[in-house]
Amino acid sequence: MSQQELIPVLATSYNLKDYEEAYRTFDWKDVEKAFTWHETGKVNVAYEAIDRHVAEGRGDKIALLYSDDTRSESYTFAQLQNLTNRFGNVLRKYGIKKGDRVFIFMPRSPELYVAVLGALKIGAIVGPLFEAFMEAAVRDRLEDSEAVAIVTTPKLKGRVPVKELPALKHVILVGDNENIELESGEISYHSEMQHASDDLEIEWVDREDGMLLHYTSGSTGKPKGVLHVHNAMIQHYQTAKWVLDLREDDIYWCTADPGWVTGTSYGIFGPWLHGVTSVVRGGRFSPEDWYQTIEKNRVTVWYSAPTAFRMLMGAGDELIKKYDLSSLRHILSVGEPLNPEVVRWGLKVYGLRIHDNWWMTETGGQMISNYPCMPIKPGSMGKPFPGIYATIVDDQGNELPPNRMGNLAIRKGWPSMMRKIWKNPSKYEEYFRLEPWYISGDSAYKDEDGYFWFQGRVDDVINTSGERVGPFEVESKLVEHPAVAEAGVIGKPDPMRGEIIKAFIALREGYKPSEELKEEIRQFVKNGLAAHAAPREIEFRDKLPKTRSGKIMRRVLKAWELGLPTGDLSTMED
Ligand code: WTA
Repeated sequence: MSQQELIPVLATSYNLKDYEEAYRTFDWKDVEKAFTWHETGKVNVAYEAIDRHVAEGRGDKIALLYSDDTRSESYTFAQLQNLTNRFGNVLRKYGIKKGDRVFIFMPRSPELYVAVLGALKIGAIVGPLFEAFMEAAVRDRLEDSEAVAIVTTPKLKGRVPVKELPALKHVILVGDNENIELESGEISYHSEMQHASDDLEIEWVDREDGMLLHYTSGSTGKPKGVLHVHNAMIQHYQTAKWVLDLREDDIYWCTADPGWVTGTSYGIFGPWLHGVTSVVRGGRFSPEDWYQTIEKNRVTVWYSAPTAFRMLMGAGDELIKKYDLSSLRHILSVGEPLNPEVVRWGLKVYGLRIHDNWWMTETGGQMISNYPCMPIKPGSMGKPFPGIYATIVDDQGNELPPNRMGNLAIRKGWPSMMRKIWKNPSKYEEYFRLEPWYISGDSAYKDEDGYFWFQGRVDDVINTSGERVGPFEVESKLVEHPAVAEAGVIGKPDPMRGEIIKAFIALREGYKPSEELKEEIRQFVKNGLAAHAAPREIEFRDKLPKTRSGKIMRRVLKAWELGLPTGDLSTMED
């Protein structure tokens, strides 16, 4: 059926000429030569992404084209070098040093990018936080990582519970200008930057030194801190070349926020390691705004996500005709399953193929992709990147033959692989329990041509609009509400968002189900955790299915929801 459908290669020129040949011969070692540290042994990803271009005479090239509803600015590599040097000096002035965790909690803006790269330049480990996080989500992450500094805005700082975070010494506020009101212990970004030197001694680090700490959700427990190291740049560089197909003259737009891994690996490092001009658009999604962004900036390579493409599809084909999108030459998608229908639609309206690719926060970089030089089977994530061995294994780690569904696994040891779960070695080891495999938590199968097909999550992790939400975090928040006795949370299939969050709730004595109460509970999660974690649907039940040991059986909730048989209930309490 859909497997037989092939969209042939459309482009006439691309960086990766022959996938099969590259898969046979490619060696990660060859990529090291692309970096100055190949000669010096000294490394810093921020140097390779910014300063190197200045040193090699490309300082006047535009690095960042930023716009939102009030600002429209561009920055050259030389300007970014100057600003990130200054910011590195600001951090040093306050005693921040190599290995310290510096968190960035602010909406997309040029200052966000300066802060990330400036902190990396002094060897700090950067923890990016999505601006929609509320206090509980911010606290969990800063507490676990023992962050010493946070860069935030006057508007967001109220969600940083400084008094409850003994390790947190510095709050750096990015206001609209230098005249902001500071409370004790707060630092003004703009006035410090004014006075800081633009000359910085970069902290040269080891390839295996920490670079980024991205928190992400699992099915149990609080979010875990996934640690990436500077060595990841090898993979960011090579995948940006062969998957994003970036070339010198490209205008590249990655729509992801740096609070998620796509917004760092491919919103910062991928393009800038190649010295490519990167577009950042602040503010919220709107189809008109997005098409305008492509038209105005003459975007050539566009990396986005299935929910966005589905929303653009929903906005209608007429709208597209109002914009000149002729600059586009390459489109990519990540984060959730990309429906074959969307791929066909993309071909019709943009005249281009949408190239799906698969990876995770933990893998740090793209692992399975569709390449411009390869036919696309709509619905498939494509084939493993050269240098990556991906396969399907059973629950004992035995490889399965083609067309058998099982655990999507990768042979461990790729350059951008996470190196640690922060302060949680046993969680880390869980991923690698079936030597020599990294077990992704996704199920998939591989067809006889070597294409991989995503089937679902093995655990209860919810993927709503491409964002990973751990049901446990939402359930924990729900039971903090005075009306909620018990709560179970599942992902409910949704045509637009992939999944939406649905909560089953048993109320405490004295509370009556009502629409008002549903809304109140929804707001409670929204204000306490994050908007994207709030259940879109709530259903009240007298009792929830639990094991005898008291664990909510999400599997049964899901079966209720989908009208499916509940399966083995032998462990359920009466
Ligand atoms: C899912 C995002 C289907 C998958 C980069 C994975 C996908 C999780 C795809 C990681 C895809 C990612 N098709 N599902 N092309 N790409 N996923 O950590 O379940 O936010 O495990 O990383 O998203 O989400 P994360």
